Amino acid sequence: MTKYVIQGGKPLYGEINISGAKNAAVAIIPAALLVDGVCRIENIPQISDVTSILNILQDLGADVRTVNRTTVDVDCSHIRNAKVPEELARKIRASYYLIGALLGRFGSAEVPPPGGCDFGGRPIDQHIKGFVAMGADVDVHGGYIHAKAKTGRMIGTQVYLDMVSVGATMNIILAATLADGMTVIENAAKEPHIVDLANFLNSMGADIMGAGTDVIKVRGVERLTGGSYSIIPDQIEAGTYMTAVAAAGGEVLIRNVIPKHLECITAKLLEMGVEVEERDDAVLVRRHGPLSRTNVKTLPYPGFPTDMQPQIAAVLCLAQGTSVLTEGVWDNRYRYVDEFRRMGAQIQVDGKVAVIEGASHLSGAKLQACDLRAGAAMVIAALAGQGTSEVSCVHHIERGYEDIVRKLSNVGADIRVVVAPGEDRQAKIG
Ligand code: EPU
Repeated sequence: MTKYVIQGGKPLYGEINISGAKNAAVAIIPAALLVDGVCRIENIPQISDVTSILNILQDLGADVRTVNRTTVDVDCSHIRNAKVPEELARKIRASYYLIGALLGRFGSAEVPPPGGCDFGGRPIDQHIKGFVAMGADVDVHGGYIHAKAKTGRMIGTQVYLDMVSVGATMNIILAATLADGMTVIENAAKEPHIVDLANFLNSMGADIMGAGTDVIKVRGVERLTGGSYSIIPDQIEAGTYMTAVAAAGGEVLIRNVIPKHLECITAKLLEMGVEVEERDDAVLVRRHGPLSRTNVKTLPYPGFPTDMQPQIAAVLCLAQGTSVLTEGVWDNRYRYVDEFRRMGAQIQVDGKVAVIEGASHLSGAKLQACDLRAGAAMVIAALAGQGTSEVSCVHHIERGYEDIVRKLSNVGADIRVVVAPGEDRQAKIG
């Protein structure tokens, strides 16, 4: 099995460039299904989740052309098929966006239940509630979600989300863009990638207002036409490298970011004694002294992101004193804790709360990534730890981090990939 071998204990110095946002890309690429013409999508991250979603569009009949390393042209004008193949859809969570996009385009969709990281239950009842309110029949049989607009076209309506859901908010936007009339989404999620999806669709001719607030209004339009759009930088990738510097020490300029999107992470690092300086499109992160304890609770944006919870836990394991970490989004996102304990971390978990007793050091160990962000957190713990660590199951990490080994090596980390015999590691976006 391919693994990363990391010699810890080296502070990080230099610059890291942040790639396009995974969770924006995996919604914007399916959104191209709604567009009549060629969409040029720029700043696409080179990660396996993006490859998977592009493969699905190609399988449906889209013309996908790679323009350069981070840009693709997607033309969905000639697609006639609304059935997504099972083996491709199960690889990623974001395949659920195909339901909203295909319903919006064709008034029908057949999509297998989504895959992705395992955090306990990951229901999509709020997505379905939205589609049903907009006039679709939705049922699950034969391993597929079957959705069909009763009148052949989705109908604008009011949808109140029972909980703040990123996926449901984006999926309802997708289903509403070409609908008949106005859709109002109340209690909508406000993450930066929701604003990015709305900006992408608006730039192609959609009429979406209020993205970034908790009430989003989508006035259905007859058609979207092609254009070009550049995806925002990845808030979580940037946050991950910020926490890597916090844990390992050193000074790194993290470039191509929107500092505003990082404020929820910056605030916690400042509390812990890490220096963070905001520049126009970069943040400088510096840590030389000891780390102080703090409490962190994950919440929907603009709260502290759940997708940064394992990474901040790695830093808290090295802070002086006792920290309390509360997971406010997912039922079960502490599956990585046993791996941290192998390194000497002292963590007690009770339900959604983890109490972390800071240790003077972590020691190298053999670790197994159990999901994307937990895998990244293990890399961070290994960078800060004393001695050699091995992180296996790195396919989880490479679903969402472009070139993580090269980016960390460039700032002085001692990290190398040991490739499993016979594994093809040529990642491509197209
Ligand atoms: N929920 C429901 N019913 C629904 C939808 C959500 O009960 O119909 C609950 C979930 O169980 C969870 C909460 O609502 O407790 C929030 O879930 P949300 O729908 O916001 O999550 P998601 O759309 O499935 C996206 C990201 C996740 C990220 C969450 C929260 C993508 C592809 N995934 O998931 O990202 O953790 O939002 O911010 O955008 C990651 O990138 O590592 C990742 C897991």
